[in-house]
Amino acid sequence: MARQRRIANQVDTKLDKGTNSSSSNGSNSTNNRSRKTTSLLSYWKQIIGCIVLGIAVTLGYMGYLETRVNTPFDDKKMVVRGGLEVPEQFWGTYRPGLYFGLKTRDPTSVVTGLMWYFPKRLKPGGDGIRHWCEQGDGLEKYGWLQHDGSTFGVQQIIDGVHVVDTSFVKRLGGSHGGDWTARISVDLKPNFKNQRSQGEDISLVWYTALDEETKGFISLTNSATKLTGIKGESSGLGEFTIKFTNHSGEVLHESFLSTIAPGLHLLKETVVASLRLAQDKPAAPRRIVLAGELLPEAGISKAEPNFVAVQLTGRVPFSVDVVFESGSFGTRQDTLVGETYTKALSWHQARFTQRFEDTFGLQKRGYSPKEVSFAQAALSNMLGGIGYFFGTSKVQNFYTKEPVHYWRAPLYTAVPSRSFFPRGFLWDEGFHGLLISTWDLDVELDIISHWFDLMNVEGWIPREQILGVEALAKIPEEFVVQRNTNANPPTFFLTLQYILKKYYNHLSEGRLATLERLYPRLQAWFSWFNTTQKGSVPGSYRWRGRDPLTNRELNPKTLTSGLDDYPRASHPTESEHHIDLYCWIAIAADTLAKLATLLDRDGYKYEQTADYLKDNDLMDSLHWSNFAERYADYGYHTDSVKLKRPKPLPRSQNQNMEMVRVTLKNPEYRLVDSTFGYVSLFPFLLQILEPDSPKLNQILDDMRNPDLLWTNYGLRSLSKNSPLYMKRNTEHDPPYWRGQIWININFLAVRSLHFYAHTDGPFKEKATKVYRELRGNVIENVMNQYFKTGYLWEQYNDETGEGSGCRPFTGWTALVVMMMGEQY
Ligand SMILES: *[C@@H]1O[C@H](CO)[C@@H](O)[C@H](O)[C@H]1NC(C)=O
Ligand SMILES: *[C@@H]1O[C@H](CO)[C@@H](O)[C@H](O)[C@H]1NC(C)=O
Repeated sequence: MARQRRIANQVDTKLDKGTNSSSSNGSNSTNNRSRKTTSLLSYWKQIIGCIVLGIAVTLGYMGYLETRVNTPFDDKKMVVRGGLEVPEQFWGTYRPGLYFGLKTRDPTSVVTGLMWYFPKRLKPGGDGIRHWCEQGDGLEKYGWLQHDGSTFGVQQIIDGVHVVDTSFVKRLGGSHGGDWTARISVDLKPNFKNQRSQGEDISLVWYTALDEETKGFISLTNSATKLTGIKGESSGLGEFTIKFTNHSGEVLHESFLSTIAPGLHLLKETVVASLRLAQDKPAAPRRIVLAGELLPEAGISKAEPNFVAVQLTGRVPFSVDVVFESGSFGTRQDTLVGETYTKALSWHQARFTQRFEDTFGLQKRGYSPKEVSFAQAALSNMLGGIGYFFGTSKVQNFYTKEPVHYWRAPLYTAVPSRSFFPRGFLWDEGFHGLLISTWDLDVELDIISHWFDLMNVEGWIPREQILGVEALAKIPEEFVVQRNTNANPPTFFLTLQYILKKYYNHLSEGRLATLERLYPRLQAWFSWFNTTQKGSVPGSYRWRGRDPLTNRELNPKTLTSGLDDYPRASHPTESEHHIDLYCWIAIAADTLAKLATLLDRDGYKYEQTADYLKDNDLMDSLHWSNFAERYADYGYHTDSVKLKRPKPLPRSQNQNMEMVRVTLKNPEYRLVDSTFGYVSLFPFLLQILEPDSPKLNQILDDMRNPDLLWTNYGLRSLSKNSPLYMKRNTEHDPPYWRGQIWININFLAVRSLHFYAHTDGPFKEKATKVYRELRGNVIENVMNQYFKTGYLWEQYNDETGEGSGCRPFTGWTALVVMMMGEQY
């Protein structure tokens, strides 16, 4: 999603300056008026006093406004237990942007992780070293096959003809989060196994690092007989050791590094800078090794290392156990290594398989073992993609001249894509929550709690979370700032709606207490949406953040809606309003009303707002087009726009000017009803539409029409006959939500079809039929593409069904598991 999302921030800068300037004049004019009424005598005294007071008040008030953007919401914190208070979640694979790494849920965690490379194929500059998930590495496949979000995981990585399996098992004990063991096994792909000569040497680098603020130490341990190990101590972990054991095969060579890395975002660079060529004995082969100790002198002693790494070079196949043991775990019976590890892992795998079947019932529904494995992988990569971040966002409002820092805070969240978007996104997370809460409600409540602790006093939550140096390193500086005028769909209401439905009778005291703390924050969130995103006509709503001045874009993007370049009114004005936002607010009010009932609060005003917005007559009067017979946005619009390259000016140097939009016919205020696609479906997608509305019949027919939205792979985002179907937005921006198939919206469609198929009404039968077809198409295509390409994808091509955009994308694309298990 976010390649285009990110570009938005530049646009937003311009916009906010324009739209907000009127409101800042308010306080000045009051001062003017009070001055006029004063008598002549005291005129000068008064005016000086007034000016001074005026300036002071204005400055004070401005100062107040400036600080509101980064002042936390003033109420009980959502996260009441964190770090070691939740020992079972202390350690985890909370660095989703890495192929394999572990850290703790601790602001200043010791981090540990894996890099690998094939010495024969290492290129200058370290090209060929695998560390962060990079699409450019061109791996045939990688991702968690099993992961329960808490105690163990099994991942498979295919790198050329090699298979690298990484797994881990945790074991609780002591008072610092317990032990874990990770196993890294390297082998050839099955059909290459009889060509052993193909087996190259591979170098595994396992490292441990402290970030700037972690108090403690790490160092290498050596012994004559054993492989090199690491020991250390930190406030969170107490004393610990990490040992390496060759579980199978042979380790040909071992080397190590103990040094100072400039930051957690430069670990690979630090390794690259330390690589040397070495020969053990005159006749021995020359090998690429780590440089050993590289520490500057600090006074008389050496400086303390914050980065230690061990490199094990082995001949394929071989496998290594990395054994982490916590010093305070005194009652340990045996070490989790070798056969003990193998057994523990099998036990966890069997338990996972059972729990998966109990939760989703796929075997019961007749899915084959291969299909069940696919679904397990989809769920597992979402759970294994849950990260723990700590840091501050940069935010800006109209009153702050420069971006300011948000308060430092942790975020426990899933991510859309481990390679491309390894950080938290607000609107994605509400979709993730559906799957995560089906698997483990308490993990989801913890995620929700972390997100709502990021709410400021205005009731705003920044929509993209870039916390910590590792997250920052993945995104260019100019895209980092978040603006408090901008919304994003409040999808957490979807998650809550689902949780209330599914778990209504299973809400323990602890869970209810979480919802109690959440309630005032949801109220503030709702109120922020209901006021700042209000439209110009009663009952209407408008996404902010569109650029009314640009002539670069064919249709100015609406990144705030989450649907980026989906076509809206061609000429953004303050009088437009958006049907998707209307529906989001309606379900937000409805969910708050239900939650109020559960918690025995007075939710009357939410009920009232929900009833008001769910009234189909109001919705129809604002958004239904009798002419086109579909729901649509309203705004200042013309279809007659195109991108054109301007003629160069005479004697101009620049012969190749960028294309600009030209408007061939004047826009007028109207419904944008020549466009048909996801946005037109929202009253149906969010189930605002009455089951007996004839409009439901129309929508079902139009959805099912192959000339409009229907494909054998799911619903395309924009109908083929819409003016901007598959059109570029600028010459540099390819279409994104202009035809491609997206799984989050297809999930909503399948879920709604299921709802209308199970609700009395004249179109029940039709909904049942379309439900079966759409569900089948989406599942089959996502699954086939996975078997063919090794990945779940960000979106799918509407002509061929092929995956496109980034991968792996096991954010909302993983909702296919919910469709398989029919959990809505
Ligand atoms: C690895 O394991 C084998 C036996 O399993 C052993 O002979 C060998 O010395 C071990 N060490 C290395 C460094 O390969
Ligand atoms: C939402 O805003 C409308 C007016 O814009 C107001 O009438 C309504 O009461 C608000 N709802 C809530 C729950 O505050």
